[in-house]
This record gives sequence, C-alpha cells and structure tokens, in this order.
Amino acid sequence: MNTLICDSYEDMSRVAADMVGEQLAGKPGSVLGFATGSTPLGLYGELARRYRDGKIDFSKARSFNLDEYYPMKKDHPQSYSHFMEENLFSKINLASTDLPDGEAADPEAECAAYDRKIEAAGGIDLQVLGIGLNGHIGFNEPSKSYSMPTYLTKLTKSTIAANSRFFAEGEAQPTTALTMGFAAIFAARSIMLLINGSNKSAIAKKLFEGKIHTDVPACLLLLHPDVTVILDRDALG
Ligand code: F6R
Repeated sequence: MNTLICDSYEDMSRVAADMVGEQLAGKPGSVLGFATGSTPLGLYGELARRYRDGKIDFSKARSFNLDEYYPMKKDHPQSYSHFMEENLFSKINLASTDLPDGEAADPEAECAAYDRKIEAAGGIDLQVLGIGLNGHIGFNEPSKSYSMPTYLTKLTKSTIAANSRFFAEGEAQPTTALTMGFAAIFAARSIMLLINGSNKSAIAKKLFEGKIHTDVPACLLLLHPDVTVILDRDALG
C-alpha cells in the first residue's frame, strides 16, 4: 500500500486528479470506478475544471459506480445517479457511465447484470474509493463474511446516521443499497483510497496498523497489490 500525505483536502483532491489524468494519458479507453459521498467531491471538481480547461479528455473512457441506494428513483435528489450527474457526469465527456439501477424490479438480476457489464468492459482500471466511519468500502459494511459479487445489502445504523446529513428532516431514507462486492473492487488494476478529515482519523489509524481486522472491510485492501491511500493531515490525527 502506497501512502501519500497531503497538506489539505484541496491538495489531496489535486493529487487524486493527477492520478486519474496519468491513467487516462496512459490508456485513454480506461474503465474508471467512482464513489459518491463527500470525500471525492474535491476530486470531481478538479476533474471538471481540468476538462473545461482542455487538460484532460474522457471521451474514450467509461465509468462504473460502486453503489446506489435501493429502491431509489434515478432522478431522486438523493440518488447516487443524481449525485454523479450533478457533480461530475454533466461536466465532463465520459463515453459511458453506469451505476447499479436502484429502480430495477429484480435486484438480484440487476446485481448479476452489473457484474457482467463490468467484466465485459474489461474490468476496472482505476477504482476511486472513500471510506466509511466504520471502515466500509462501497456499502460493504463490517460483517463476519463479505460478498464477492454485487449484491443487495442492508445498511448499518451508523451508516444510515452518517448519511442522514444528506436527507431533509422527516424525509424517508433508504436502509438498503446495491453495492459492488469485493470481486469487482479487487479485480481493479489499481485503487486509490481517499481519506480526509479528523473524523476519519480513528479508522485510518486502524488501516495503517497493517493488520487485517476482519471487522474493518477497508483492511481487506491490504491484500491488493496496487493501492494508493491519499489522505490529508487531519485524517492522520
Ligand atoms: C459511496 C461509498 C461509500 C463512501 C463512504 C464515505 O459510493 O462508496 O463507501 O465512500 O461512506 O463517505 P463520505 O465520503 O461521505 O465520508
């Protein structure tokens, strides 16, 4: 695991955007894996800026997102589909974008189809990840066992509480989601894990112990041969 320590969140986002830029420069038809949440917003802003300034081109690249709430309408303001459209897809020129379909009538069939689509695209070249306060990756919550395929998962109370900040008071908040499992994440040729903010320092510390704590899903990344953790000083604690 490579570790890059950045002075600020803005710095972390620029370093992450440099990595995406290098990936696309080396392979314009790259398959990118994206996450949602607040962590990658700086990266997405930076990518949009660089595209606008003619410094990066996504026209041959495609993307797959880690997860989507289920059930969830695509045009719902809190859907990850809407989040990606607002914060990135509408601002750059990706050849195609995919997320698990929160409107699918048959979630299991949708999960299997999503894995097939990623495989047919040749797998993910560069996967962007954030980390949950409980160490979750995508919506792979701490558990005794982890799913390899994409699957319908139940969110933990702590994740529902952490994400409640995005929902208006009294608004129904989903408690289940479709998430990529560890097969597609692990098959990614390289992974960047972004960690920022002092509220993530405890979980970052766990990861940096270099032990596989099985109740911290992110620790499984220690087994992947090409992971770069990019973090700001606040996350160091
Ligand atoms: C979302 C996702 C989650 C987030 C994590 C951190 O697609 O994959 O694992 O990365 O919940 O969220 P933030 O960045 O909001 O702290």
